[in-house]
Amino acid sequence: MAGAYDRIVLPRLIEWACSHDSIGEQRQLVVPKASGTVLEVGIGSGLNLPFYDRSKVKNIIGIDPGEGVLKLGEERFANMDIPLEVLVESAEKIPLENKSVDTVLLTWAGCSIPDIQTALSEMRRVLKPNGQLVFCEHGRSSEPHIARRQDWLNKVWPYFAGGCNVNRDIASLIRGAGFDIQELENFYSDKVMKTVSFHYRGTAKIA
Ligand SMILES: C[S@@+](CC[C@H](N)C(=O)[O-])C[C@H]1O[C@@H](n2cnc3c(N)ncnc32)[C@H](O)[C@@H]1O
Repeated sequence: MAGAYDRIVLPRLIEWACSHDSIGEQRQLVVPKASGTVLEVGIGSGLNLPFYDRSKVKNIIGIDPGEGVLKLGEERFANMDIPLEVLVESAEKIPLENKSVDTVLLTWAGCSIPDIQTALSEMRRVLKPNGQLVFCEHGRSSEPHIARRQDWLNKVWPYFAGGCNVNRDIASLIRGAGFDIQELENFYSDKVMKTVSFHYRGTAKIA
């Protein structure tokens, strides 16, 4: 039963949640910042693909170990008008050369990557010295009373939500992996569901 939930139901639920209008508005702000050779970490079903700036992006390498969610993206991948390669791999061990990409794009995946610190170190390794990490992630609220609720919720949430954690301090994790954050905006994407909607949107460079 758990197998069928993870393989069939969960990928569809995640795609539905990630297709919300409020998320689309964020994609519009963040994805066009990508340029050159782009590594999209946790590409999922490819919901970012329509938002890339065709005049700036040379090629895209997407990685994601989630075969169920990748299957949902097959048609989007096949019809992509920028050269695209999708690798069924984990961000904790990125199969790319050092200093080989211009942009790493990370959207709503940093919450679910099991060893996010190792994954961010890998993103840093594959970035060219002048490259940038572009991110939009939900995570730990800056309001202590909401963060406390997130710690409580996180005891159960990852089991139902595909390993998604609601309480990761994304900015600290990015800095801890050796990045300097250049731009950062924090906001709640939903004023009611504050426990799951505190966001970090921005860019970072290698420190
Ligand atoms: C909520 S979905 C977001 C998908 C996509 N980034 C988006 O913006 O719509 C989280 C994604 O992270 C992926 N993921 C989980 N663990 C991962 C890992 N170790 N390495 C790379 N991606 C991972 C999942 O398979 C899933 O596709």
